[in-house]
Amino acid sequence: MRVALLPGDGIGPEVIAEARRVLDALGLDLTYEEALVGGAAYKATGHPLPSDTLEVAKRADAILFGAVGDPDCDALERHLRPEQAILGLRKELTLFANLRPAKLFPELADASALRPEVAGQIDMVIVRELNGDVYFGEKGMRKTTDGKREGYDVMSYDEDEVRRIARVGFETARARKGRLCSVDKANVLETSQLWRDVVIETAAEYPEIALSHMYVDNAAMQLVRNPGQFDVIVTGNLFGDILSDQASMCAGSIGMLPSASLDANQKGLYEPIHGSAPDIAGQGKANPLATILSAAMLLRYSLAQPQAADRIEAAVARALAAGARSPDLGGTMSTNQMGDAVLAALT
Ligand code: NAD
Ligand code: IPM
Ligand code: MN
Repeated sequence: MRVALLPGDGIGPEVIAEARRVLDALGLDLTYEEALVGGAAYKATGHPLPSDTLEVAKRADAILFGAVGDPDCDALERHLRPEQAILGLRKELTLFANLRPAKLFPELADASALRPEVAGQIDMVIVRELNGDVYFGEKGMRKTTDGKREGYDVMSYDEDEVRRIARVGFETARARKGRLCSVDKANVLETSQLWRDVVIETAAEYPEIALSHMYVDNAAMQLVRNPGQFDVIVTGNLFGDILSDQASMCAGSIGMLPSASLDANQKGLYEPIHGSAPDIAGQGKANPLATILSAAMLLRYSLAQPQAADRIEAAVARALAAGARSPDLGGTMSTNQMGDAVLAALT
């Protein structure tokens, strides 16, 4: 089982190191291939996603990714910026289905930004489309006829793109509580009207699923008012990006949420939903649990190792129950000490 390790920038290498220690402790037959990505790759090779790195990702059975993003690179031409590496990997490998589960570990009720009785209800999966939307449309800077600078980014989805992610949403709901909420902005956007039409058409294939629709502004409000109402949310690339960061804080911290980005054959890239956190990089303050939980998703979805995945998830729960807390969770433990706590809790 070949795992590509792409640590990236900022806290990426710090959190990947802890996930690697946990994977190593499981006694599985894993081989690793590590490669540069993001700002680190740009600085070494002149490109954020060198072809060697793409090849490593392509030949692996699964990819564990840290984070990309480096303030030194923010003024580069867009195609050279670190963020293009993760966008390129998602597109090149057709990783169109991003699963972002948000569940409150009961021990973390006090870390949530919500009241404990509200936060305690959170148990959802956000299914975010990852290959389309305003992220990948035509974009640019131009001059208006009266000489003003204008930036533009075209938002679009075609019906096949919507149908394939809608099916992932319905299938995810079928494996859970059977409720799917499609989030859009159909009251304003044609892209969203097509989204909603195609989701409704696709629902005919899943009569047992309770489908609802919600505008994204209301969804943002409902996520903090009553997050327990959601089982599975399916939404586009941009809305899913924003709502998942919000959901993470409802569930305790952005340092807690893992994700899986899957193609049609369960090949996947696994990463925490957070970024490279330049404000805390190099200080041992990063919470590695989102990445450790991403490694568990990797074992479950791409390497067919559900028991090993269960062991990791149970160890994280036990470590939290034993009081392991990084600064984002209100504690003082370092990244490395959080890794130690999970290792100590592995059975
Ligand atoms: P961020 O997620 O990196 O950080 C937001 C805030 O959350 C910061 O205060 C940070 O310290 C904190 N935080 C994030 N992860 C944490 C963790 N594991 N433990 C404790 N605290 C944590 O988002 P940002 O600051 O908006 O972006 C920083 C850079 O990361 C940018 O270059 C951005 O483009 C990039 N980014 C990359 C990814 C990715 O690689 N998939 C995701 C998001 C942002
Ligand atoms: C994420 C990030 C990325 C996104 C950026 C870094 C391109 O925010 O993975 O959530 O917007 O998808
Ligand atoms: Mn994001």
